[in-house]
Order: sequence, then structure tokens, then C-alpha cells
Amino acid sequence: MAQTQWWQRGIFYQVYPRSFQDTNGDGIGDLDGIRARLDYLVALGIDAVWISPIFPSPMADFGYDVADYCGIDPMFGDLDAFDRLIEEAHARRLKIVLDFVPNHTSDQHPWFAESRASRENPRRDWYIWRDPAPDGGPPNNWMSNFGGPAWTYDPASGQYYYHAFLTQQPDLNWRNPQVRAAMHDVLRFWMARGVDGFRVDVIWHLMKDANFRDNPPNPEYGPGDADIRRFLQTRSTDQPDVHAIIAELRAVIDEYEDRVLIGEIYLPIDRLVAYYGENLEGAHLPFNFQLIHASWSAPRLAELIADYDAAVPEGGWPNWVLGNHDQPRIASRIGARRARVAAMLLLTLRGTPTMYYGDEIGMENVPIATEDAHDPWEKNEPGLGLGRDPERTPMQWDASPNAGFTNGRPWLPLAADFTTRNVAVQLEQPASLLGLYRDLIALRRAHPVLHAGTYRKITALGDVLVFLRESAEECVLVALNLAGTVQDDIPLPPGTQGRVLLSTEPDRPREERVEGHLSLRPHEGVIVALDARL
Ligand code: NOJ
Repeated sequence: MAQTQWWQRGIFYQVYPRSFQDTNGDGIGDLDGIRARLDYLVALGIDAVWISPIFPSPMADFGYDVADYCGIDPMFGDLDAFDRLIEEAHARRLKIVLDFVPNHTSDQHPWFAESRASRENPRRDWYIWRDPAPDGGPPNNWMSNFGGPAWTYDPASGQYYYHAFLTQQPDLNWRNPQVRAAMHDVLRFWMARGVDGFRVDVIWHLMKDANFRDNPPNPEYGPGDADIRRFLQTRSTDQPDVHAIIAELRAVIDEYEDRVLIGEIYLPIDRLVAYYGENLEGAHLPFNFQLIHASWSAPRLAELIADYDAAVPEGGWPNWVLGNHDQPRIASRIGARRARVAAMLLLTLRGTPTMYYGDEIGMENVPIATEDAHDPWEKNEPGLGLGRDPERTPMQWDASPNAGFTNGRPWLPLAADFTTRNVAVQLEQPASLLGLYRDLIALRRAHPVLHAGTYRKITALGDVLVFLRESAEECVLVALNLAGTVQDDIPLPPGTQGRVLLSTEPDRPREERVEGHLSLRPHEGVIVALDARL
């Protein structure tokens, strides 16, 4: 097997810092809180922590509106706290990955204050300013991802500025070389401080059509849909020239040893894989969100795994994601029983897994009434189910008041079930979801074939998905029952012989022999080490 990098062997874990661990009683998580929980993460077995934005911000979009790229918001701590976190993480061989938000700044960023000061300001061109349309309206039909037009009129200078997200998140002009140079220096600033890489926010948005042509209508748009679905974003995102911009980012990353570049990209597979870059000069890991949108059926999962696996370019490394801070929780999407099988799938597929905090204990969406919403998207387009607060609620550490998350009043409510669904309880129960995650992660580490082997589908019939992970050294079979009914005598390829390494059903004996066929209980997944390659 070729030598692999840490981000190929390892497992990423996303921390949403506001909701992980508070140490100063303000009800909002902080850097000292993450540091206090490092031993938990080590025991879980993950390798790298990606932290959503921690930079000074007015928090209009909870940190995705950055007012200073090289600082820490006092809410989270300061640079000393950050340095302590890096030091203690590295002492435990954990990597720290930051969220880099280059597409837009906060409207409170000093660059934007200068840019909007006058048409003549040297930073005017750092952002995207356009004259009104002949009727005085916005320059084109582009919509904001959070509802309404993506253009805001600035009466002082008589022009509109573009913001793919909130009015308070003006887009930077990446065609301007000074912007690019300034942002490259931001990456260097953090890498020099020891940061191991970046998850790049909406990387496919960085370049827009040079002529600002209208987006075409979306034929699938219907009543009740978010505004952003009115048009297909073919002119406002995913432009061919974005790849040269990303290659420049990658070159900066490569100035430092062993760093990783991850890109957030919501695109169909054929366009997604372009983000590995020509000659692999793009992102190391363009996030693969296929499992987030997939329907939970064996043929569908098999199809998307095959399509993705085949589309990843030669030399490119695959990855898989089950959830993040923008998506409904996996346990709520597919149900608690299936979440166990989903965990097994995530941790046995070919490609780097990324976990979302709390999914390892089966945290579910917490219903938040529209009038209590914090998320600006819910506030702008209320009642459509777009809000992201439900998947951002505080981590459930134990049964003490506020689940051990804070001594103060948590910024979002705790789940109603936190006294029974929490880390402390599940650590005591080997049969818990947390116990399963720990076993799966340990198994992935103990059997290199699970991170480095090839993928081969065996069966995707009815509700059963069976696949192999193979290398010159070992062969592992994974069989997943996606349904709530027993699956008797699933035929396996002729000559299949092996022993069970792990089941999602804790009472199936490990080392149980498997020969020729397999029966699975409802929602059961098993991993079988084969005696010989098939
Ligand atoms: C994607 C982030 O994940 C999301 O939380 C944020 O609102 C938008 N980008 C805008 O930065």
C-alpha cells in the first residue's frame, strides 16, 4: 500500500464552538472548553478537529461573517487561549483545522468600511460593486442564499454591492490580486501558529461570472421553497476560473509541511470532483455530501457510492460526511436505529470520514420555535423549515443541569432527553451508540484496509448492502441491513469464509464464523474479516 498522509488515514471531527463546552458561564462555548474536552476526543479516537469560525465577528451568521481574519473573538477566548489549544492538541497528536471564510467578510470588516467609503477608495474594488439596472433595481437576478436579492443598494455611492449570503456578508472580489494576496497571508498567519489545515467555506462561490449575467430559472422551484432555489446558480457560482484561484490557495498550503485543504462544495458529483483540481492542484478533500442528501435504500446508496468512487480522479482521495452545522442531524433524518448502521457505513467506506459533534451519541434536532430562532436564515424566511438552530444545540456531556455544557444559560436550549442521552451515560454502556463509534474507529485504525483498501460492491438488493474492502494484506466484508425486518440467509460470494469483527447489535458474538451466507437482524450491520481474498 502506498504511503498515506494523516488526512487520508485519519478521521475528522467537527466542533461547532458555540455549542461544545462553555467555561466562563456566558452560555456560549469557548476555546478553553474545547481544550478541556481534548481527552474525550482522544478516547473517541478521532485524529483531527475542525473548528467552525472563532474569529472576531458581529455574529450575524455566527462567525461566518468575519471582521478580522487574524484574531479570536473575545467570546471564544484570545490568541493565547488558541495557542494553548494548539499546543495541548498537538501534545495528544490531534490536528487542528480552522474554518477559512474567504468568499465574504463581515460588513464590519475594516476593508469593507474603506470599500464603501467612496468609489475612489483604493479598496473599492476589493468587493463587488455594480451600477443599478436601468430601472434602478439590482444589477441582475442573483438571489441571496438566505432569502431576498443578493444585492444591497448603497445610497452614498449610488451602487449596489453583492452578497451571496446576508447583507452583512459582502462578497470579496477574488479577481483583485490584492485580495488574493491578503487572504494568502491569512493562511500563512495561522499555519505559522501551528494550524494543520483549513476547511474553506463555500469554496465554489469564490468566482462569479465576469459579466454578471442573470442566472437561469430553476424549473423545479415551487411554492414553499427557499428563495435561493428560484434560479440555478450557474452564473453566480462554480465558474471555470475558480480552479486557478484554488490552485493558488493550495500552493500557499504547500509552503508548509503536512497541511490539508478541505473545500465545502455542494455540487453534483461530476462537478464536485473538478475541485481536486487539474493535476490534483486543488483541494485535498472536496467535501462529499452525497450521504447527506441520499435516500436510505440499498440500491440508491450503492449507486451513489459507485458513482462517487468512480469519479474521484486517479490520485485523488475520497471522503464522506454524514452531517454538519447546516444540515438536519443524521439521527433525525433517518432515525436512531438506522443511525447505528449509518455510523458503520461512514467508518467503513473508502475515504476520509468527517463526523459532526454529538452525532456519536445520537443527538437529534431540537425543535426551536420560529420566534426563538437565532439562525438568520430562519428569521429571513420563517416557517419553511430552513433554520439551522436545531442541529446546533449544546453538546450533551452528562445529566447535570445544562448537560455539563455551561453554568450559565445556554444560547440554544438543550435537547429534552439530555439526562439520558449524554456522553457520561453512554461511556458506561458498551452497547451505546458512543460505544459503537469508539469500536468502529478503533477497528478502522487496527485494520488499514478500512482506510486504504479498495471498495467493491457485492450486493445491493432490497434492503441489504454488502461490499468488500480489499488490499494485498486483508479483505473485509461489510453487510448492512437498512430495513427494520430480519434478512435471512443473505447469499455471499462463493468461498466466503471469515469471522465477525463487529456488529451494530452488541450481543452478536465477535469471532462468530461466517460461511457462505449471513443472516442480519433488523437494522443490523456487521463487519467480517475474511480468511482469504475472494
Ligand atoms: C457555509 C457555512 O457552513 C454556513 O454555516 C454559512 O452560513 C455559509 N457558508 C455562509 O458563510
